[in-house]
Amino acid sequence: MELFETMIQHTSVRSFTSQTLNSELKRKLILAAQSASSSNFLQAFSVVEITDQKKRETIEQLANFPVTNGNNGELYIFVADLNKHAQVLALNEDTDDHLRKMESLVTAIVDTALAAQSMAVFSESEKLGICYVGGIRNDLFKMKELLELPELTYPVFGMFVGYPTEKNEVKPRLPLDAVLGTNTYRSLTPTLIENYDKKTAAYYQQRNANNQQTNWSEKIRHHFNYPRRQNTGEFLKEQGFIF
Ligand SMILES: Cc1cc2nc3c(=O)[nH]c(=O)nc-3n(C[C@H](O)[C@H](O)[C@H](O)COP(=O)(O)O)c2cc1C
Repeated sequence: MELFETMIQHTSVRSFTSQTLNSELKRKLILAAQSASSSNFLQAFSVVEITDQKKRETIEQLANFPVTNGNNGELYIFVADLNKHAQVLALNEDTDDHLRKMESLVTAIVDTALAAQSMAVFSESEKLGICYVGGIRNDLFKMKELLELPELTYPVFGMFVGYPTEKNEVKPRLPLDAVLGTNTYRSLTPTLIENYDKKTAAYYQQRNANNQQTNWSEKIRHHFNYPRRQNTGEFLKEQGFIF
């Protein structure tokens, strides 16, 4: 399939066959991740592959995300990582004051996301399925303990990768008009929101599994109706970041 077609057919996969990825393919996944652009070539991310079944179960539990087909598929944790850079500064007896600031953290999170998405696109081009797992941030302190994360690191999300048992319907995205402005930012309009709500309501009602009476606005309202993961700031401070 042409790459563009593969990309617009993307759907998250949460159930994998028992077929394992061979070691060459797994190596390529990481190389694809490493090939992403990187702000100032900092390469401010690390990936932790989870092969220990007990650890994986603990992570799935805390992320509230059991893979529906047992322990199939690989699990990678993407970590925003400025520890490597602190090591370079320390070796040269330079101050790391600036490395600990919010701007550096943002840079590292962006690098991490770009690397992960490069791996995701490559995976899908190889007929693998993927699903991000933001749920790993439900318990940052436990993740730190499990992965033995040093200071100046932050586990951003996990990603399951494997051969899919099933393919969900593609979720209809916002219309192009809603995301592309020309020369200036383009706001949503009430009509656009109404039309998109109708489209997403039809999708949620008609999809093959987990049908719901909802729409995009309802999902957004639900999402922002209560605070989430309120200790992120506390965790990042403990990791040595300064805000
Ligand atoms: C950073 C990130 C974190 C995510 N975390 C989860 C998660 O914890 N559990 C889950 O089921 N899906 C998770 N997803 C998948 C999204 O729910 C999914 O991408 C979105 O609903 C769009 O559906 P699609 O990927 O099938 O097109 C995550 C996606 C991203 C980008």
